[in-house]
Amino acid sequence: MNILQQPLKLAITGALALGLGGPAFAQNPCAAKNPCAAKNPCAAKNPCAAGSKFDSKMVTRPKGTKLATGDRAEMLKLGETLWSDTKLSSNNLSCSTCHRGGAAFQNTFAKPYPHYVAMAKDKGGFKQINLDEMVQFCLAAPMASKTLAWDSKELAALTMYTAQVQKSFKPVAAAKGNPCAAKNPCAAKNPCAAKNPCAAK
Ligand code: HEC
Repeated sequence: MNILQQPLKLAITGALALGLGGPAFAQNPCAAKNPCAAKNPCAAKNPCAAGSKFDSKMVTRPKGTKLATGDRAEMLKLGETLWSDTKLSSNNLSCSTCHRGGAAFQNTFAKPYPHYVAMAKDKGGFKQINLDEMVQFCLAAPMASKTLAWDSKELAALTMYTAQVQKSFKPVAAAKGNPCAAKNPCAAKNPCAAKNPCAAK
């Protein structure tokens, strides 16, 4: 390990932790009446917000990685459970909070991986990204959490389940021409938006 890199890494981790806010925010990210208000996970300091950068290395699949394998039906079941598990995040969100019914996906989701994803480009500088990396990306950025071990059953299961979700995804014509959607995850289809279940409470 390169010792010189450590302080920088710590500084980044520290900055992220600070940016993610205090305990009140951790308990209920949807407490504010306006989910896009200051203490909300979708607010400015959150890695999900437009403009913030994060360490793209943590979502880059290390060379030689093999995802875990297992019984397909069992893996899909685990993946489906994890898809709705808010414990995977630090801000009380699950994949399903944002992506239920194909929400928060742009038309790129309909293409085979690897491919360009606006958020991955904006925040991580990825020209194109793989599906397992994208799962890690959403864990690290919008869910403000840790990534999963590359050889874990959980990552394999979530990746497999997401591929299943992808099969039934239908591109939406409207998403294409909306410049706000791409760069700002807090735009229309985002959980910060009015119709989100998160907003109601
Ligand atoms: C806070 C909302 C939020 C949560 C929670 C979230 N995502 Fe995302 N996800 C997004 C946004 C925003 C994008 C970027 C869309 C874009 O730029 O095209 C995205 C993109 C993706 C993509 C890429 C789609 C494509 O075009 O190829 C995948 C796959 C994905 N998410 C999977 C997941 C999984 C799996 C989880 C749970 C572990 C998850 N997401 C949790 C908001 C979220």
